[in-house]
Amino acid sequence: MAKKNVFDFAQMKQRGEKITFLTAYDYPVAHLAEQAGLDMLLVGDSLGMVVYGYGGTLPVTMDQMIVHSQSVRRGAPNTFIIGDMPFLSYQKSVADAIDNAGRFHKEADVDAVKLEGGRRVVPQIKGIVDSGMLVMGHIGLTPQSSGQLGGFKAQANTAEAALALLEDAKAVEEAGAFSLLLEGIPPEAGKLITESLKIPVLSIGAGPYCDGQVLIVSDMLGLFEAFTPKFVKKYANLAEVIRNAFKAYIDDVKSGRFPAAEHCYKMKPGEAEKLEELLKKAP
Ligand code: KIV
Repeated sequence: MAKKNVFDFAQMKQRGEKITFLTAYDYPVAHLAEQAGLDMLLVGDSLGMVVYGYGGTLPVTMDQMIVHSQSVRRGAPNTFIIGDMPFLSYQKSVADAIDNAGRFHKEADVDAVKLEGGRRVVPQIKGIVDSGMLVMGHIGLTPQSSGQLGGFKAQANTAEAALALLEDAKAVEEAGAFSLLLEGIPPEAGKLITESLKIPVLSIGAGPYCDGQVLIVSDMLGLFEAFTPKFVKKYANLAEVIRNAFKAYIDDVKSGRFPAAEHCYKMKPGEAEKLEELLKKAP
């Protein structure tokens, strides 16, 4: 299947065809996602929590994001891949934002970058777009500023807050973003913003009216058990599958059932017997 581009995503919005989107952090999962036909993949800074075991996304570095993005690109060469700009890779200056968006493109061959914030990151979005790169905005529950939000809490649950978020969404669109991710807001606010913007609007916990949906792959596969946000639907329970496999392995090794003959290499014909003879003759 040919790799989709921004024009395909814009047309999908116009046609009302939902965009399918997942996070991926490594080669094997990216490869399976491409085989399954996902429209886009995000190398999310959520890897800080679901891959590295940090309590949040703030410790994640550009170097970590680049290594994981390279692995995802190798697994999914024909999928539109977005690199997530980690905390303090773009907030300090427009020059930082352009340099780090450039690193994602030069070193990991991504198709676009994503950054968090509305009106306050307009200069950064403009800077990256004016340098020829594509930006996905991200507003609502923005994990990199969860301290200011009072934690990982749903946003825009009053009429005033929904209208303020709409202003952020419009600012992101006007700054030149090709798409916008809404996180952790009620469906009414998701619908208002999706219908008010020309660019595709993606949802993670923003209800069914958005132009597409994204989930964190470790949540939807049931691999990350520390907590499960309300908006997650689990499509598998890999944690259980993996734990059971590990237990069976332990049993097999302890009991001597593994390795069996089929897991062992064979000597050339006659060589085992020859070895025995040589050993008998040895002093
Ligand atoms: O880092 C991430 O995985 C995200 C999700 C909210 C999609 O930004």
